[in-house]
Amino acid sequence: MALPAVGAAMLEIENVSAAYGPVRALDGVNLNVGMGEIVTLIGANGAGKTTLLMTICGRPSAKAGRIKLKGQDITALPTHRIAALGVAHAPEGRHIFARMSVRENLQLGATLAAPANFARNLDRVLTLFPRLAERIDQRGGTLSGGEQQMVAIGRALMAEPDLLLLDEPSLGLAPLVVRQIFAAIGQINRERGTSILLVEQNAHHALALAHRGYVLVAGEIALEGKAADLAVNPQVRDAYLGG
Ligand SMILES: Nc1ncnc2c1ncn2[C@@H]1O[C@H](COP(=O)(O)OP(=O)(O)OP(=O)(O)O)[C@@H](O)[C@H]1O
Ligand SMILES: [Mg+2]
Repeated sequence: MALPAVGAAMLEIENVSAAYGPVRALDGVNLNVGMGEIVTLIGANGAGKTTLLMTICGRPSAKAGRIKLKGQDITALPTHRIAALGVAHAPEGRHIFARMSVRENLQLGATLAAPANFARNLDRVLTLFPRLAERIDQRGGTLSGGEQQMVAIGRALMAEPDLLLLDEPSLGLAPLVVRQIFAAIGQINRERGTSILLVEQNAHHALALAHRGYVLVAGEIALEGKAADLAVNPQVRDAYLGG
């Protein structure tokens, strides 16, 4: 993987539209993630957040517009090629394998990384989430929701991504676990310089962690700005921060 130029964008989404058959889910979306940046995308149920992450990964592919990764056009590439270029996705609902152990689930994320890096990458994930080290041979299906989320993020990290896509990592988790997960996301960004696009309904935590944010309403970007500015924006406060 060639090193990108300093100051270049990690991800550039230009005028992207996407649809499921006749159902339009994204309409002319513009969004950027800079190198080493955490960007959050907030929005209500059905706004199109998951669709945007999936469109970055090529399924569904964008109907219009362009998506670039480190300057390279990835709009029409198949998902496995996009992953090989350095994008990893921890999907909504986690989708870990219930009958496989924590170790096996993490191994599945490692297929794109150099085999020589496996032990080091596993060690880094288990240092980030010590709870997983304690449960390394436990089956995925018997883990708590928070532990499953740690596996989903850990599995994505095993691919050594440049861009990490996280879809509602806090969904359904207790406040203490939410804080642990958000702390880990911040740590990944600081220690590895990984660029992160974080989809969240928990706008409070997401805006506290991210550098910048976007608000998606019915498939269109309604607002964007520095996270600190969005956190005090009256529209955002009313709609996403409980007033
Ligand atoms: N596979 C699909 N087939 C048809 N329509 C779909 C499909 N997936 C999503 N949609 C529709 O696309 C729109 C956007 O859905 P999406 O899942 O992207 O929203 P979201 O912002 O992630 O919502 P949530 O916060 O509930 O996860 C919705 O109207 C949804 O019904
Ligand atoms: Mg979603």
